[in-house]
Amino acid sequence: ERLWLVVPAAGRGRRMGAALPKQYLPLAGLTVLARTLARLHEAFPEARLCLCLDPDDERFDPAAVPFADWRRVPGGAERVDSVTNALAAIAGEAGADDTVLVHDVARPCVRAEDLRRLASAVADDAVGGLLAAPVADTMKRDDGTGRVGGTEPRDGLWHALTPQGFGYGVLRRALAEAAERGVAVTDEASAVEALGLSPRLVSGRRDNLKITHPEDLALAEAILAAQKA
Ligand code: C5P
Repeated sequence: ERLWLVVPAAGRGRRMGAALPKQYLPLAGLTVLARTLARLHEAFPEARLCLCLDPDDERFDPAAVPFADWRRVPGGAERVDSVTNALAAIAGEAGADDTVLVHDVARPCVRAEDLRRLASAVADDAVGGLLAAPVADTMKRDDGTGRVGGTEPRDGLWHALTPQGFGYGVLRRALAEAAERGVAVTDEASAVEALGLSPRLVSGRRDNLKITHPEDLALAEAILAAQKA
């Protein structure tokens, strides 16, 4: 069984409010995209990579890809469509039991040890799983007018991080069924859950930040510097 990495990087980063999509913003001397791929390569040098990019993306530089075996796949309208395109692109090569790890391009701070731990947990699990971190803050639900409508018990709540890993066959079926039934899918696990399966929560470091807002870049630089120290 082989290991495939799918990196959705076709977002336009509207929330960043920057001129560049976030995968091309500079982070500690490289682009966010190059940093993320370097971390994945450190953990899985032999893996095969599918990189989902906007078909109109002219900033992409293949020199940022450290993998020997990789392909560019056109991104779709939403993240889930980008991942679906990647799975379709490797249909002729991937076996149903091959493991697919999907990792956001916007998470360059994931540690190699978390990546390896997730991969071995997924390989040992009939369903698959995701890196996740327990929620630390108290969670409020708004009432729609800018006031607190209630406090959600935070016990047992986790942040869903990436990578999220599943067998190729399970993930392909989950995404196809979710699309068919119109299930809203914001991560791979939610599509698998909609099949009635329970992915494993694999505890990961909270510094696996998703770069979303401009202030996150400085935070990511500080995290990378602290990881080296
Ligand atoms: O925008 P957000 O941070 O939720 O995007 C999560 C990931 O999905 C990013 O890595 C982004 O590049 C990717 N994405 C994609 N195709 C889209 C939208 C987002 O590959 N159409």
